[in-house]
Amino acid sequence: MSSKTKIGVIGCGQISDAYFKASETFDNIEVTACADINMETAKNKAEEFKIKALTVDELLADQEIKIVINLTIPKVHAEIAVKTLEAGKHAYAEKPLAISTEEAGKVLELAKAKGLQVGCAPDTFLGGGQQTARKLIEDGWIGKPISGTAVVMGCGPERYYHKAPAFFYELGGGPMFDLGVYYITALINLLGPAKGVSAMVCKGFEHRVTGKQGLNPYEKLPVDVPTHYSGTIEFQNGAIITLLSSFDVWAHNHKCIEIYGTHGSLEVPNPNTFGGPIRVATGDQQTVEWSDCPITHQYTENMRSIGVADMAKAIATDRKHRASGELAFHVLEIMEAFEKSSKEKKYIELESSCEQPAAMPAGLRLGDLD
Ligand SMILES: NC(=O)c1ccc[n+]([C@@H]2O[C@H](COP(=O)([O-])OP(=O)(O)OC[C@H]3O[C@@H](n4cnc5c(N)ncnc54)[C@H](O)[C@@H]3O)[C@@H](O)[C@H]2O)c1
Repeated sequence: MSSKTKIGVIGCGQISDAYFKASETFDNIEVTACADINMETAKNKAEEFKIKALTVDELLADQEIKIVINLTIPKVHAEIAVKTLEAGKHAYAEKPLAISTEEAGKVLELAKAKGLQVGCAPDTFLGGGQQTARKLIEDGWIGKPISGTAVVMGCGPERYYHKAPAFFYELGGGPMFDLGVYYITALINLLGPAKGVSAMVCKGFEHRVTGKQGLNPYEKLPVDVPTHYSGTIEFQNGAIITLLSSFDVWAHNHKCIEIYGTHGSLEVPNPNTFGGPIRVATGDQQTVEWSDCPITHQYTENMRSIGVADMAKAIATDRKHRASGELAFHVLEIMEAFEKSSKEKKYIELESSCEQPAAMPAGLRLGDLD
């Protein structure tokens, strides 16, 4: 009998290939079926990856499927998660977990009541780059982390790559829910959970225009969300990190993440990728030098889906999974707190917390998770 956990994918858009290819690396999972609101889209992916194309209802009724991966757009993430859990299956979503903590809270409550698991991307923090950075902090290379910066700014996905970018400017979109989410998740992996947020947000443009690669080129899109976030997160370990996340910036020269400690500084790789580079600066008051650090951990190529493989392994072996609903909920509350702090012009104390996810061991072989 096969020990692979059978998986169904709902939402067959731009990011889905990474998930359809998951079992090439992780032999504990197998994607057997896919569905999309657009049946043609599901059929095309099913043909390409030699799996079944089903309607959403058929996929949810499929008895062999134990985990549903939800790759729909953010505003339907909670709705699909609820349907998944009600069908008795574990739910794993692309980020964000939902478009509000109110919606996400209902998903987590339902999962608890049903004894099912919820998992959520980003899972890039399980990559070699972020795990090596965490090890450097935990091994004391920079001393106690005091402060840091996290910067993710560009001029919007419609200009670079996305064919259907409207959802980036709807509730649940914007630079924070799209990209800031990687940075906050990475910071929790590095530093543990947060305590509060003080921030300001604004919107640089009232509408955006889709690029020539779009399905509807040169379409005018209304902007319903802030597109520039600037603020500081206070972590429970005492570190304060300044975060900038924007779709309103044409160019800049900041690093992705830097952490400043009592004895040195750490340059953390882009948390929207799995690899390096990583640099550490240590020394004495006369000479402080930056050095390149070797990556000590597995998974440096694009391994999106490692989070769901880890969840399947955790369910099978009765341990906690790393890209958990609890972590994603805390990240969501932090993202919401930026807007709340800006509106209310005050420091927002967070209500949620989470466990720092277990570190990945160094020296794993490709496909292994423990
Ligand atoms: N594109 C990327 O590079 C990328 C990277 C990381 C994460 N993500 C996340 O992945 C998710 C999907 O992004 P994408 O870029 O693939 O979007 P997309 O618009 O290309 O694909 C979304 C798919 O979901 C389907 N869909 C929408 N509503 C549905 C419903 N109610 N039921 C069933 N299917 C439905 C759409 O028809 C579409 O095929 C988003 O949450 C996004 O934040 C995207």
